[in-house]
Parts: sequence; structure tokens; C-alpha cells
Amino acid sequence: MIYYFCGMANYEDIFKKVVAHAKEYGYVFQSSEIYDGLSAAYDYGPNGVELKNNIKNYWWKSMVNMHENIVGLDAAIFMHPTSWKASGHIDAFNDPLIDNKNSKKRYRADVLIEDHIAKIEAKIEKDCVKAAKRFGDNFNREEFVSTNERVIERQKKIDEIIEKMKISLSSGNLENVKSLIENLDIKCPVSGTNNWTDVRQFNLMFKTQMGATVDTSSDLYLRPETAQGIFVNFLNVQKTARMKVPFGIAQIGKAFRNEIVARQFIFRMREFEQMEMQFFVRPGEEMKWYNYWKEFRMNWHQSLGMGKDNYRFHNHETLAHYANAATDIEFKFPFGFKELEGIHSRTDFDLKAHQEHSGKKLQYFDPELNKSYVPYVVETSIGLDRMFLTVLSHSFLEEKLENGESRVVLKIPAVLAPVKAAILPLTKKDGMPEKARDIMKMLQIDFNCQYEDKDSIGKRYRRQDAIGTPFCITIDHQTLEDNTVTLRDRDSMSQERVLVEKLHSFISEKVNIAKYLD
Ligand code: GAP
Repeated sequence: MIYYFCGMANYEDIFKKVVAHAKEYGYVFQSSEIYDGLSAAYDYGPNGVELKNNIKNYWWKSMVNMHENIVGLDAAIFMHPTSWKASGHIDAFNDPLIDNKNSKKRYRADVLIEDHIAKIEAKIEKDCVKAAKRFGDNFNREEFVSTNERVIERQKKIDEIIEKMKISLSSGNLENVKSLIENLDIKCPVSGTNNWTDVRQFNLMFKTQMGATVDTSSDLYLRPETAQGIFVNFLNVQKTARMKVPFGIAQIGKAFRNEIVARQFIFRMREFEQMEMQFFVRPGEEMKWYNYWKEFRMNWHQSLGMGKDNYRFHNHETLAHYANAATDIEFKFPFGFKELEGIHSRTDFDLKAHQEHSGKKLQYFDPELNKSYVPYVVETSIGLDRMFLTVLSHSFLEEKLENGESRVVLKIPAVLAPVKAAILPLTKKDGMPEKARDIMKMLQIDFNCQYEDKDSIGKRYRRQDAIGTPFCITIDHQTLEDNTVTLRDRDSMSQERVLVEKLHSFISEKVNIAKYLD
């Protein structure tokens, strides 16, 4: 029997432990750490880069290789500056910013309000927990929240705040946003005062220059999303890959945003990676495809076996300038349910805008309908780093074992684990290292393996648990006699003797993507 004591600890403590573990075991380092770090930029270490590559591969296989009507692209990060005028990013990719005059700390005004709402929600949650205790098995949450006066009052307050925020933000009335913060008496968490500046719009794009001349025509932006590289290549791809609507273009690449508040480790970074797919459809068919991709993407997440209850949809009430429907897939991170992926029905906004600004037609001739049109687009957009954090934070466990010892283990889904198998000769003599090297050679072409011969076998098992290696293969005296090894399973810690010639097929079966994506 194994006891998990992670779940009982405070969430902030767990998150701190995950961050420390990520550094200690070569997953994630603070960028430029020797210079005291650069905020909101991170480097991925030897295990981190493997996990990242495995996530990318899992996404690419499912989205591109397993869809005949989706092809890939790798567009440049730099794009013609007019692309960003067309996409609306120069005019509208802003966050409302506010400073506290005492602490000089900067906040996103909408986040301050959302945090205030979250506090009221937490009070509702407390009321529910108390009532659940009181009523026991007879507790009906739905009935309770719809009849309890205190909860109804709190919910009414939340709805009013959301409504006011929505109206103020969508009409660009920043004075009203400030009044809302003042009326709710929201205080700066650092200074504890409500001595706020006015709310201002802050464009999130990083600007730079191309070439030696410093005139405005050479202003460039680091792309804030990979999607625009797909839109401007729509016809290039459609024609050269001879695609017929409906079809998709997928891309994995870096994106950059000068986030006002970048926090929570790799959750919100200024340089990050996205895995995006734009699906081009007939006008009028976008809602059918929007629902298809919602379901498909949720299934993709759940295929990894990280707990169905840890995911939920959050439909957007306020829509971005380009969308007619949007939802987030949220994951239960250690700091609560947060956006992991966005699914957006982007209408024909982007293609039409690029058509207008470039003067080039971006239309598709549909042979079945015998007419040309600008396709509508349904987009799936997931942050690779956020997916990485999902896997890492869900996998991190501290376990108390039956024998009183404890271990830290990363129960990463085997298909994504950076190291699939550790090859461990019991001792450094009697021909064991040579046999172990032979086994390593046999496996390493298909699986990332690690050879380790230092320290006791128990210590080596613990180190591999901490890295998240699903299988440890121990070569001992018996191996030399009957060609069997001990195969130890990371999660159950059970051990069995397996013939060396069966190792490849055994591991292959456990880490096979097809098994997960079935
Ligand atoms: N093309 C649409 C788009 O970019 P988004 O909701 O702004 O939509 C999509 O971003 C995904 O990119 C998010 O769900 C999140 O996973 C990731 N993402 C966005 N900003 C991020 C940041 N600052 N740091 C890390 N990931 C981020």
C-alpha cells in the first residue's frame, strides 16, 4: 500500500516543490540564472527538452499524421509589419494596466477584478463545504446554491461585477474600470492600499527593428501568436498540398508577449511556444467544426490518463474581436483551474483582413459548390509550456511507502516520459557492465535510455523515480546465466524477471502512442 501525502499539503507548498524539483532534476531552469535570472523566461534542461519533444510529437501525431486533411507548416517568427495591422494586434492586442502608487507594483486591471471575484467564489465554496458536512449524504449542491440566500446574494454580486467589467472593457471605458476597482475597494496585495493610477492600455507585442535604418517602415514585431503565419500562407499551402476545404494547417513555434503580470513559473511567460491548428471550413459550417474540435481536443487531453475531473470547458462570454464562439479547456493546476488550451471559431476575419491589407485574394474555389469564398476558420491553440506544466504538476507525488520510507516520484504518462528505461548493472564487475551496454545498444535507437552504475540499486531506483523513468532494468548475476533481467515498474514498484529478448516489445507496447490515442 502506498500513501500519497501530496494531496494533503497546501497547494502553494506543492507548487514550490514542483518548481524546485524541475530545477533539481534538469527539467526547467530560470533563464540567465547566473545573472540573477530574467523574469518570465525559462530554459529547458536535458529532461525538460525530452519531455517537450515528446509532447510536441504526441500533438503532431494526433493532429497532423492521423488526419489526412491536416498538413504542417513552419513559418518565420518575423512577419511583414502590415500583417499585425491586418490581424488587429497593433490596435487591439492590449491589456488594461494599472499601478499602485504606493508599492509601484503594476497589475492587469481585469486580473485584479477577477481575483476579487475568485475570493467571493471561494466564500461560496466554503458555504458549500460547510453545508455538505451538515447534510451528509443528503446534500444536493445544485439545490443548495440555488436556494441558500447567502450564496444567492454572493452569486448576484459576482454577476454584477462581471457585467460591469464586460461593458467597461468592451467599450474601452477605462475610467469605469478604475471606478469598479475603487468601488470594490480592491487593495494592492503588496502595499495594502487602494491608491491607484488611472487604467491605461498596454500593447503586448515586442517591437524591434530590421536592418540598419531606424525608420518606422522597418519596425518589426515578434509574433504574439503563430496563427498569423498560417493565415498568410493559406493559399500557398492549399495549392501546393492540393488541399480541399475542410482542411487544416498545423504549426508548432515560439510566440512572444510582453505580459504585464508574468507569474506562476512557466504558466505565463514572455517567450513561450504554441501548438496551433487552423481548420478552414465552408462559411456556415463553422459551428459544426467548432463542436467537433472541442470534443476532439478534450479527448486528446484525457487520453493521457491524468484524471477526467481535472479538465473542464470554460466558454467565453466576452469574445475577441475575431471570434463568434470561443472556449478554453481548463486544467486543475496546483493553483486552481486555469486555461490550458483555447478553441476559437475565428470566422473569416483574419483571411479577409489579410486580403484587404495585402490586396491579394485569399479565396478558395469550391468545386462542389462551384463558387469561390473566403473560408471560415476554427482554431485549436495550446501552449506547449502550459501543457508541460500540466504534466509536471500532475505527475509530481510524494509517497509514503509501507516500509516507512518515502519517495518523490514523477508519474509522467509513459508515452511522454523523457527517459523510458534506465539500464542498471548491479555491480561494476563480473561482466555485468558489458551485458548492460549490449542491452542499452539494443534499446537506445528506439527509446531514450539512461545507463547508470553509481550508488546502490535502491538509490538509483529513487533517482529514476524522481526523473519519472517508467522502467528500470537491472542486470545481475542471474542475467549472465539465463539472459533475464529484473524489470521494475515505476508506479507499482513491482519487479518481474523478463527475458532480454522480450524487453524491446515490452517497452514498445507500454510507450506506444497508438495505444494512448486509440
Ligand atoms: N492564436 C490564438 C491564441 O494565441 P490565446 O488564448 O491567446 O490564443 C493560446 O493563446 C494558448 O497559448 C493559451 O491557451 C495558453 O496555453 C498559451 N499561452 C498564451 N499566453 C501565454 C503565455 N504568456 N505563457 C505561456 N503560454 C501562453
